[in-house]
Amino acid sequence: MNLGNGDGDATTSELLRAQAHIWNHTFSFINSMCLKCAIELGIPDLIHHHGQPMTLLELVSALHIQPTKAHCIHRLMRILVHSGFFELRDLEEADRQTRYVLTCASRLLVKHNPSSVALFALITLEAFSMDQFQHLSEWLKDDEDFHPSTFEMAYGVTAWEFARRNPEVNRLFNKAMASDSSLIAKVVVDTCGGVFEGLSSVVDVGGGTGTMGKAITEAFLYMECTVLDQPHVVDGLVGSERLKFVGGDMFVEIPPADAIFLKWILHDWSDEKCIDILKRSKEAVSGRGKVGKVIVIDMVVGNQTGDHRFTETQLFFDLEVMVTFNGKERDEKEWEMLFVDAGFSGYKIVSHLGLRSLIEIYP
Ligand SMILES: C[S@@+](CC[C@H](N)C(=O)[O-])C[C@H]1O[C@@H](n2cnc3c(N)ncnc32)[C@H](O)[C@@H]1O
Repeated sequence: MNLGNGDGDATTSELLRAQAHIWNHTFSFINSMCLKCAIELGIPDLIHHHGQPMTLLELVSALHIQPTKAHCIHRLMRILVHSGFFELRDLEEADRQTRYVLTCASRLLVKHNPSSVALFALITLEAFSMDQFQHLSEWLKDDEDFHPSTFEMAYGVTAWEFARRNPEVNRLFNKAMASDSSLIAKVVVDTCGGVFEGLSSVVDVGGGTGTMGKAITEAFLYMECTVLDQPHVVDGLVGSERLKFVGGDMFVEIPPADAIFLKWILHDWSDEKCIDILKRSKEAVSGRGKVGKVIVIDMVVGNQTGDHRFTETQLFFDLEVMVTFNGKERDEKEWEMLFVDAGFSGYKIVSHLGLRSLIEIYP
């Protein structure tokens, strides 16, 4: 049926699907907000500490929520079950009560898990990011040179400067980064340990509070690691015999080493800035013979084309770093162009680590 409303030759079912598609996207923010609410209420923590499948009544009473609002928690949990954060255990004949258990995703939201993603999700879902996206179209029409990101349009400073001026933001951001590094360090050490073979020194540029550096020195007992980050990030951090913290600016100086490690750095920067960082990294590993290399952990957009959700998440991240940092998630062609422009002779994508990849670049 053509409704004659300028909708071309769409059939009724196509039109209704199109309407559902738009509604789904209109309400997709509810997925994000329900996730935020569950983390704020500590639902994953409560179910974890309960130690066995938890009934709705047990959950409501642990949440100290009005019993009259139990039906709201049931509905919150229903969508979170639908989106894979919790699972239902079989109803028990005796009491006919629904019981919730954690899934792999909600176990990663338990706050005391060193690899917890809870803080990263909360920081991202705080006004910070949500505000940026309210101003996206306004920013696109704005003089780009003046406001390289919507963050700068809103706050008048870069996100890095904002964190430097706000110690609590700095602390939470560094903590969220450390949790990610805790997870990725385990994966890298277990599955890509070979990339460190033959190296005796590494500089973790923008290495935050040193979670990755610590993991590297613990896994490879001959390795020395220098963590270079902004002074307000590393001030007061105490290293060890083989782990050193240096406050500095990667746009001014990167100390020499066998390898330069760049995890989750380049996606925060424009192509021009990345080429600058990469050239300095190349200089830092030059003269190290065969072992000298730069190791990057970042996304290679489209590396998992078979998985629609993976690619969608990479595209989400691309816009997230665009609005917050004037950064960019890159596909393999875009990475290759950067490496060539920075003067490298070759590169190899060693491994895909879920959404991200480990890339070796050779001087
Ligand atoms: C997205 S975080 C990644 C942290 C860490 N590599 C990780 O993956 O957990 C980016 C890091 O770059 C650091 N950074 C930003 N500008 C910098 C600069 N000019 N010199 C050195 N580090 C910088 C930030 O302080 C932050 O720790």
